[in-house]
Amino acid sequence: MVIASSGSGRSVRSFLSIRDFTRTEIQELFILAAKKKREVREGQLSTDLAGKVLALVFHKPSLRTRVSFEVGMLQLGGSAVYITDKEIGIGQREPVADVARVLSRYVDGIMVRTFDHSLAVGLAAEGSVPVINGLTDLLHPCQVLSDLFTAVENGKDLDSMCVAYIGDGNNVCNSWLNASTRFRFTLRVCVPEGQEPSSEIMEAAVKETEGSIQLVRNALEAAQGADIVYTDVWASMGQEKDAEAKKRAFAGFTVDARIVEAARPDCLVMHCLPAHRGEEITDEVIEGPRSVVFDEAENRLHLQKAILLKLLS
Ligand code: CP
Ligand code: NVA
Repeated sequence: MVIASSGSGRSVRSFLSIRDFTRTEIQELFILAAKKKREVREGQLSTDLAGKVLALVFHKPSLRTRVSFEVGMLQLGGSAVYITDKEIGIGQREPVADVARVLSRYVDGIMVRTFDHSLAVGLAAEGSVPVINGLTDLLHPCQVLSDLFTAVENGKDLDSMCVAYIGDGNNVCNSWLNASTRFRFTLRVCVPEGQEPSSEIMEAAVKETEGSIQLVRNALEAAQGADIVYTDVWASMGQEKDAEAKKRAFAGFTVDARIVEAARPDCLVMHCLPAHRGEEITDEVIEGPRSVVFDEAENRLHLQKAILLKLLS
């Protein structure tokens, strides 16, 4: 849990990793997200965060994260300011600590999407407002919390389901490993040799979950009887130059109809998007009846509103 002390002696809670929330807190977030989802569908908007402003600091592109946080703040009565590195040049134009302290004087929360996870940690440590991780090279916690919520909405039991994560051992995979420490689902991490997730996160999760994490090298085997078949791009943002080498490394790891057939008939096919159709997933599968990728995208909005209410209220 990241606790940063403000200048005024107030304790501020940030959300940089799924490990920052307990199991009970996550369950409470799901209840709140479901309520907010119902309300917005009934046309009810709230004023819970009236007058509050969220800074959106982006060092990488985004569709879902940017729009869902911005719309989420509006629907809660607040507003958001979008800032790219062109303006602030964190670490170059001025130190992370100064950016954190200045932003904390203007806004009520900071969402950051960046490369190096330590920059997000630095903002949380040096600022006096909550910091929310909107993706770093290491983690994508908002995504996986929304995905867990989507799984529950679709009737999956987080304490008994089997998740086959097939693809790159990246930020999304690392966040699934962190999530496995909060619920008792089985997680099959299916990655080619050399593309494994963070060894530190994997080892910690394996130790804490006592047998619920399996490292599988064969995609068909990983999908066997799975409740969720999850994949993500092979070359994440910032790794574009490695795309061709990655394509070779991931031969045989495409989530295609054969993989989905090996899973349970009521399995959910998940992908955080954006997808590279024809690489990590086929067009047929992402457009197929088991795919819930647009529900996942929508739920980013509802789940993040719950996070904003928890941290900024
Ligand atoms: N899934 C996700 O975070 O999408 P964006 O990169 O578009 O924000
Ligand atoms: N792993 C991907 C996730 C995109 C939402 C990336 O980091 O680019």
